[in-house]
Amino acid sequence: MRKLRTAILISGRGSNMMALVEAARAAEYPAEIVCVVANTADAKGLEFAAANGIATMVIDHKAFPSREAFEKALDAYLRSMNVEAMALAGFMRVLTAGFIAGWDGRLINIHPSLLPAYKGLHTHERAIADGAKVHGCSVHLVTPELDGGPVLLQAEVPVLPEDTADVLAARVLTEEHRIYPQALALLSHRIIAETP
Ligand code: GRF
Repeated sequence: MRKLRTAILISGRGSNMMALVEAARAAEYPAEIVCVVANTADAKGLEFAAANGIATMVIDHKAFPSREAFEKALDAYLRSMNVEAMALAGFMRVLTAGFIAGWDGRLINIHPSLLPAYKGLHTHERAIADGAKVHGCSVHLVTPELDGGPVLLQAEVPVLPEDTADVLAARVLTEEHRIYPQALALLSHRIIAETP
């Protein structure tokens, strides 16, 4: 069975990466995780990836003189691994329009809000501060507009009166782990249909 060669980019804990790796174990899952790339050597998720036999790579953005130089190294590594699509999972670097154009329609991100609400950081704090009754997460295609690309899947959770940001974040994260694998499967089926 053809499986889409997929990279996951992380900067930290990597729980969404883990959810994707677990889903991709299934024989009928349409993507295979061929590498996990981090922009910082202390990204916790790297250990899980390595322990699961997945190629890991650290490309430290601080080692490059510019964003473009960092992205050039990242792009070269991904091409060397014959990567066909990429999932950002808590990857904390903004990508330039030039890099994104090279992966048009093949680059997805998970964001902890119901986009277009609460783009950017501190989404749970902002939802609570606003008195929002419903919050959630979105998987979207990455475009040059930060957190602004077309949404593939969303999941809602309630905001309860006693919620702290941490409690709400945990409720959202459970849904992230459920929909990110579904969204990568959707994208993979779409790309495989175009390039069998
Ligand atoms: C998640 O909340 C994700 O939506 C956001 O960053 C967080 C990453 O968590 N983009 P993890 O590294 O996947 O555990």
